[in-house]
Amino acid sequence: MERTFGIVKPDAVAAGNAGKILESIEANGFKIVGLKRILMSKKVAQQFYVEHKERPFYEDLTSFMSSGPCIVMALEKENAIKSWRDLMGATNPAAAAEGTLRKKFGESIDNNAVHGSDAQETAVRELSFFFSGTELN
Ligand code: RTP
Ligand code: MG
Repeated sequence: MERTFGIVKPDAVAAGNAGKILESIEANGFKIVGLKRILMSKKVAQQFYVEHKERPFYEDLTSFMSSGPCIVMALEKENAIKSWRDLMGATNPAAAAEGTLRKKFGESIDNNAVHGSDAQETAVRELSFFFSGTELN
């Protein structure tokens, strides 16, 4: 079993799509082992996305991620990291495959509904960034 970290981003929460996204996550065989609704400050968003610090979209991305509540999740499944990325679809919803969450719920490359860890080390870092040990079960 592997664990990964996911976010229902502020656009999807604001649009009322969080329930449908969680339903789809369970229907695809993930066990939700950690879950909470949070509001990131700009500073927290900047720390979380520090890997993108030098990228042109860093400012917009961190403003967006702190613009409203989101839902952070710890997801467990065999090959959870790849499986969650597959269910999310391509970063740009316009390029995302049919049936993926970004195709269904994403509006643009900035407002793309969900986040997922992209590698083992990232998953460990991102899970511990938002969850303490007792919050994962
Ligand atoms: P995420 O980290 O949110 O799961 O998305 P990702 O791995 O598919 O994409 P990543 O390259 O890590 O980029 C993080 C988020 O920044 C926004 N982005 N905008 N305008 C652009 O060219 C651009 N590129 C990336 C997206 O919202 C992306 O999810
Ligand atoms: Mg990423």
